[in-house]
Amino acid sequence: MICHLNGEFLPLAEAKVPVLDRGFIFGDGVYEVIPVYGRKPFRIDGHLARLQRSLDAIRIRNPHAGIRWKQLIDELIGHHENNDQSVYLHVTRGVAKRDHGFPKDLAPTVFMMSNPLVMPSSEQLERGVVGVTATDNRWFRCDIKSTALLANVLLRQLAIDAGAAEAVLLRDGFLTEGSAANIFAVKSGVIVTPAKSHLLLPGITYDVILELAAQNGLPLEQRDVSEAEVRGADELWLTSATREVLAITTLDGRPVGNGAPGPIFRRMHALFQGLKRANGEPT
Ligand SMILES: Cc1ncc(COP(=O)(O)O)c(C=O)c1O
Repeated sequence: MICHLNGEFLPLAEAKVPVLDRGFIFGDGVYEVIPVYGRKPFRIDGHLARLQRSLDAIRIRNPHAGIRWKQLIDELIGHHENNDQSVYLHVTRGVAKRDHGFPKDLAPTVFMMSNPLVMPSSEQLERGVVGVTATDNRWFRCDIKSTALLANVLLRQLAIDAGAAEAVLLRDGFLTEGSAANIFAVKSGVIVTPAKSHLLLPGITYDVILELAAQNGLPLEQRDVSEAEVRGADELWLTSATREVLAITTLDGRPVGNGAPGPIFRRMHALFQGLKRANGEPT
């Protein structure tokens, strides 16, 4: 498998980073995961804009202009056989003597790899997946796509240990997101999801759902969603770059709605597939 490290394409097994890289020492970096359909990155401009926002938030200069990122991503895709891929890219502050404060003008470390995109199985689409609620115990800058994912890792493992596919996170009685996904609820035909804030990652798939809802006349509200609304929802969905949109049909051992993926989920899933076929352009 070929990856990219600091300007070079090389086999993944040969890619090496110094142990003093601040990504290794502090988790001092940011990342993106970009789905690739039919060898074309999906919503690349959105991903690169979010990368820029994350880099600005942690004060790392962007090592590449957008056009260069696109070239590198295309080259990486070209090294892999699968038409559908998941490109991971990662920028850390670079290598320096261990000290919390950071030196100015450090050269950032850039790493990229690509894996085959594993889409949700037909069983997951037909039956939905299991969710469990958990207390959102992360920091107050969840809008930064940081590589420091310890809290998310522990929350995902909590879900796995409970036989679930995702943790549905609640902070002070309100929904935030999942351990690696945004969450939408549906009640009486209205889709609701928390508005973007420092408490959740602004998902690229989240934006796609908002656009598809607006274009197709599906009522959607971005607002605070209480725990009671989550528990009383007719439908619950999770969205992410690699899982697209999936129905959560069991929450904390109880059925969500009638326990099967709902009609609005099915509509949104079909719209999403149409958008993918049109390469991310409105159909
Ligand atoms: C915490 C968190 N929220 C939301 C998302 C969804 O973002 P996207 O749709 O851009 O994949 C992710 C993606 O991995 C995530 O890690």
